[in-house]
Amino acid sequence: MFRFGFADPKGEPAEPAAPSDGPGEASAEHIGAEEVPDSESKPTGAQETAVISPELSLIKGVVSNAQAANILSDERVEENDLIAGVYEGGFKTWEGGLDLAQFVALQLDTQRAAGQQAQPAEAGEQEHQEQQQWAAQLGPGSRVMELGCGHGLPGLVALWAGAEVHFQDYNRSVLTTLTMQNVAANRSAWASRSAWASHRQAAAAPSSETGAAASAAAASSSGEQSDAAVARYFAGSWDALPGLLEELGLQHSYDLLLTAETIYSLEAMRSLYRAIKACLRPGSGVALVAAKSYYFGVGGGTAAFTKLVREDGRFSCEQVAVINDGASNKREILRLAPLPA
Ligand SMILES: C[S@@+](CC[C@H](N)C(=O)[O-])C[C@H]1O[C@@H](n2cnc3c(N)ncnc32)[C@H](O)[C@@H]1O
Repeated sequence: MFRFGFADPKGEPAEPAAPSDGPGEASAEHIGAEEVPDSESKPTGAQETAVISPELSLIKGVVSNAQAANILSDERVEENDLIAGVYEGGFKTWEGGLDLAQFVALQLDTQRAAGQQAQPAEAGEQEHQEQQQWAAQLGPGSRVMELGCGHGLPGLVALWAGAEVHFQDYNRSVLTTLTMQNVAANRSAWASRSAWASHRQAAAAPSSETGAAASAAAASSSGEQSDAAVARYFAGSWDALPGLLEELGLQHSYDLLLTAETIYSLEAMRSLYRAIKACLRPGSGVALVAAKSYYFGVGGGTAAFTKLVREDGRFSCEQVAVINDGASNKREILRLAPLPA
């Protein structure tokens, strides 16, 4: 049975304590939010590869509980996956993060294959196509937010597709020592693969087809992004995020919102939902939420979140994937889409 390793075995918030690296005060509800510049990126140690799709593997850092405790200067982190108001689990890779990255990559592949076939839509496919519309728009010119990113695997898939991606995590040091490192490592892998593809294409092309045109053709045929899409980083609580987005002129500007393993507590999911609403572009923005059906001992899960969204009445909330691999309790992906006003 799945249980979070909480600082308090009853799942109650830990004693209020100032986050060791957080931008603000004592609890998740009151900690501030701020943009963290790329220049604060700090190198980490080990890396490994996560297979996302046949087309895409991502490089990700590996941070042990002992290393996380050291980075956060809090020895409780060695024994606990989450300490409410101090550390919210960003150094670990959670199953939902991988599920969501794989789901987004699959939708992109399906969309690309459908585009290549260019066949007229069958009547029964209408709904499926509508569900995938966000994937068709995911690329240069679209803006994506990943809330509670940790490693940021789903956001990395969007970055790979060419979107501008903003990564948000409660803990500033998760962003500086993990997320930024993951973005940099993958970007340089994509750049060198693109350069290699260009080199091969240029070598094979007739002499008139050299230079930029051949490079662009090679990059697009290999499915790699040659130009670095924009990545930005925001630290702090979901409660404070809407104010920061407003200050930066980013409120209601996101086409796609991604979030995984973030609806584990009833209290946190209300803040998360407010942040989702502040992010999404009115009338078209879509959110994908990956989570366990139920988080034993903490009360959150997909049913409670679906109820919250439906009661609010602004978005539809539908299950678009179920992952039941027997390794943990059932996991799902929910899709929130705007309802007509
Ligand atoms: C369990 S971790 C999941 C990390 C990652 N999405 C994954 O699936 O691997 C929960 C994430 O939600 C974020 N989080 C939780 N509560 C938060 C809050 N009140 N405000 C802002 N972020 C929060 C943390 O930053 C943390 O990265």
